[in-house]
Amino acid sequence: MSNDGVNVGRRRFLVAATSVVGAAGAVGAAIPFVGSWAPSARARAAGAPVRINIGKIEVGQQIVAEWRGQPVFILHRGEEILNNLEQVEPRVADPNSEDSAQPEYVDPKLRSIKPEYLVVVGLCTHLGCAPSFRPEVAPADLGGDWLGGYFCPCHGSRYDLAGRVYRAQPAPLNLPVPPHMYETDSVIIIGVDEETA
Ligand code: FES
Repeated sequence: MSNDGVNVGRRRFLVAATSVVGAAGAVGAAIPFVGSWAPSARARAAGAPVRINIGKIEVGQQIVAEWRGQPVFILHRGEEILNNLEQVEPRVADPNSEDSAQPEYVDPKLRSIKPEYLVVVGLCTHLGCAPSFRPEVAPADLGGDWLGGYFCPCHGSRYDLAGRVYRAQPAPLNLPVPPHMYETDSVIIIGVDEETA
């Protein structure tokens, strides 16, 4: 009888203690949740559009910008590169980018707003490595039919200089084209376009 009394009392204490811990836990859990509703200035900056001056990129040269923590390749294409894109078209998997990510205002074959400037996210669509820029024609390591493109060092995927993946590669899709727009002839903004500006 006395044992029962002790046990009941102890049980009450345990229930009360658990309730307090439970309430404290709920408050503790709410703090990071509230925090996620108000992104920090750093988080906002990481997702913000970036403005890039492309006026000094020579024909055949590429620069790499950063947007949302990702590399973005910006390539200045001349006549030779644009002609080679036509030649490789039968060998690429998705020549008109029907399955690949790109805004609808981008030309489906050249994958750009203006033919001379390619803007693509520089992450392989296989497992996300950064493809190497290999603009040379027929280099020894890539073969006589290589007309310039991107080569992924991780598992060997090949892309042309419109970011279109060749057939039968580990990578399934073309390099994505991010939203972007021309502010002037020599300044582009990545991460925003005419529709969202
Ligand atoms: S990550 Fe590029 S081929 Fe695998």
